[in-house]
Amino acid sequence: MRKPARPTHARGSRASSDVSARSSAGASESQNLRDETSRNIQWFPGHMTKARRMMEESLAAVDALCEVLDARIPCASRNPEIDRLAAGKPRLIVLNRCDLADPDATKRWKAWFRKQGFEVIETDAKTGKGSAAFPPAIRKLLQEQIERRQEKGQVGRKLRVMIAGIPNVGKSTLITRLAGRKAAAAGDRPGLTRGKQWITVDEGMELLDTPGILWPKFESRETGELLAVTNAIRAEILDREALAAGFLRRLALHYPEAVRERYRIEPEADRSGYELLEAAARKRGFLISGGEADLERMANTLLSEYHGGKLGRLTLELPPEDSDENAVSDPDFTV
Ligand code: G4P
Repeated sequence: MRKPARPTHARGSRASSDVSARSSAGASESQNLRDETSRNIQWFPGHMTKARRMMEESLAAVDALCEVLDARIPCASRNPEIDRLAAGKPRLIVLNRCDLADPDATKRWKAWFRKQGFEVIETDAKTGKGSAAFPPAIRKLLQEQIERRQEKGQVGRKLRVMIAGIPNVGKSTLITRLAGRKAAAAGDRPGLTRGKQWITVDEGMELLDTPGILWPKFESRETGELLAVTNAIRAEILDREALAAGFLRRLALHYPEAVRERYRIEPEADRSGYELLEAAARKRGFLISGGEADLERMANTLLSEYHGGKLGRLTLELPPEDSDENAVSDPDFTV
């Protein structure tokens, strides 16, 4: 799905020299995003090997894998290696944080994942909304296994599921939700790796109590930015002005109304992200000595308002079918 990110260049003629300079500096910093973020969150090859080993070991003990994604960035919040790691294991996709995502986009993503052969549900694990769909979705996914077991007379054998995903997508929150009042761990079971704990979801279903943590994958500058903007990686370790400028430009292109309403600026397509950030700062009265716009303050305000849901329910990527004309995921944008 993902198109290769092209080199960025400042677009738009209105930029003051100050803003242009910041823009190109921001672009080159963004190009180093992958290395910088990878270093800072410490996903060294050793950690990845450990995570991979843990996944493989746990996968051997379960019937199905539930992959949790952030509904606002279903592509960027996915580790593409999961396809190889899961190798043939039936998979349920959970589009979590649907409370923060654009409902129309979530509908499109659900249809897209179904077309790829996955079961898919949407949840707001924080409130528990949608989590009741989990057990029936797993049963549908494992229908054949259930029938085979019944034919063999293997009654009473529970369906075992593992939850996995990159950090901060809501795995633990979802596990807590699914466990509900039945959270007491069932303890070690003979024949399984020592130490594995199982949580009863319902009479016939158990959940591995520890989620599989996958490493975020920075295949492009765009992916890194989407992960940072949604807090999947720590945004404070990045150049927040560059991040916010890129994000504001993305919003201006795809959710112009949200920008207009919240920041009272005109999200014209030919304005760079830095120009928009500067305009928003001035509108808010965020100025520093000499009347310069306080871009740092505006960047922090924008990112925290987005996290606080103040910009509305926004999805930052659309499925591939939509990508050519309407994609929110657009590598050809510039800060
Ligand atoms: P992880 O195991 O995948 O690392 O994620 P975890 O469950 O710890 O969730 C990370 C953060 O995301 C938590 O917020 C959690 O409350 C929030 N979260 C999880 N699912 C949802 C959801 O569906 N919608 C929303 N809006 N938030 C969700 P936190 O920053 O640790 O604390 P707080 O913001 O809840 O106070």
